[in-house]
Amino acid sequence: MGMFIKILIASICVAYLAVKWTGPTFDPESLKGSRVLVTGASSGIGEQMAYHYARFGAQIVITARREKVLQQVTEKCLSLGAQKALYVPADMSNESDPEKVVDFALEKLGGLDYLVLNHIGATRFAMWDGDVDHVKWLMKPNFFSYIQMAWRALPSLEQSKGSMIIVSSMAGKLSNPFTAPYTATKSALNGFFGSLSHELAMKESNVSVSICSLGLIDTDTAMNAVRGIITTPAYPASEAALNIIITGATRQLELYYPWYTYVMTLTKDWFPSLTNHLIRNAMNYNP
Ligand SMILES: NC(=O)c1ccc[n+]([C@@H]2O[C@H](COP(=O)([O-])OP(=O)(O)OC[C@H]3O[C@@H](n4cnc5c(N)ncnc54)[C@H](OP(=O)(O)O)[C@@H]3O)[C@@H](O)[C@H]2O)c1
Repeated sequence: MGMFIKILIASICVAYLAVKWTGPTFDPESLKGSRVLVTGASSGIGEQMAYHYARFGAQIVITARREKVLQQVTEKCLSLGAQKALYVPADMSNESDPEKVVDFALEKLGGLDYLVLNHIGATRFAMWDGDVDHVKWLMKPNFFSYIQMAWRALPSLEQSKGSMIIVSSMAGKLSNPFTAPYTATKSALNGFFGSLSHELAMKESNVSVSICSLGLIDTDTAMNAVRGIITTPAYPASEAALNIIITGATRQLELYYPWYTYVMTLTKDWFPSLTNHLIRNAMNYNP
């Protein structure tokens, strides 16, 4: 690697750390008793977020499709200190379930302080094979359900000066191979919630929108998908979950986790060929 590139990367890292250190401070007490809805909370990052919120003493509603697993997660949340932990099984590819889930949380918790949208529908980690129907379907859980839930929860979030937290991906900022349908849905989320964030600010709304761009995280789903193809290190789901929660609690617009996702996002615009080279080189692929 040339000296110029090394200096550039070091400068970006220093700038990133400076921004981090001067950012708003997180007060864990602020989450005590807060009313939180977390989607996709039966496994992975969503499950870890449920446990963190529980340790902070929040009141939680979690959702996903597998009822038995949701029940186990709520039991653990109660044992970790959640003031309340309830679950509602739902399929986010179904037209009416997203709004039903928000209504359930509003009724059981008496309002919402945090809407944490995290679930994703199943998709293959593979080259695009022309299956347009799959992309149309994937848009339902990964995008349409998010905007349905956000709109349904907005009046309550306005009342509570609450926050929407959108769990997105580096893929929404920077395209990767093998994830075309998923990338499309995450780009749609970034675009939509970026616009919504402007509109809420222009209306002097109380509601903050945080968009979280994650790199590779060590959940079972991600690890099974990329095994043998991506060899770059995966970061811990529990740490990713905590960073997402802090970003929402401190009402920050964006999270990049881990650190390299920020560097990649910046270098994409400045050095597109280099960035594309790095992305493709991180994949084991033999045609
Ligand atoms: N892991 C990574 O490397 C990574 C990287 C970047 C971004 N992210 C983002 O982080 C978030 C969580 O990812 P993860 O790796 O933790 O995923 P995960 O472990 O596969 O969890 C996905 C969750 O969504 C639920 N779900 C799946 N299909 C659903 C449906 N049709 N309706 C309702 N719920 C459904 C799953 O539960 P059920 O099966 O019980 O429904 C599960 O709780 C996603 O938004 C993902 O894009 C992850």
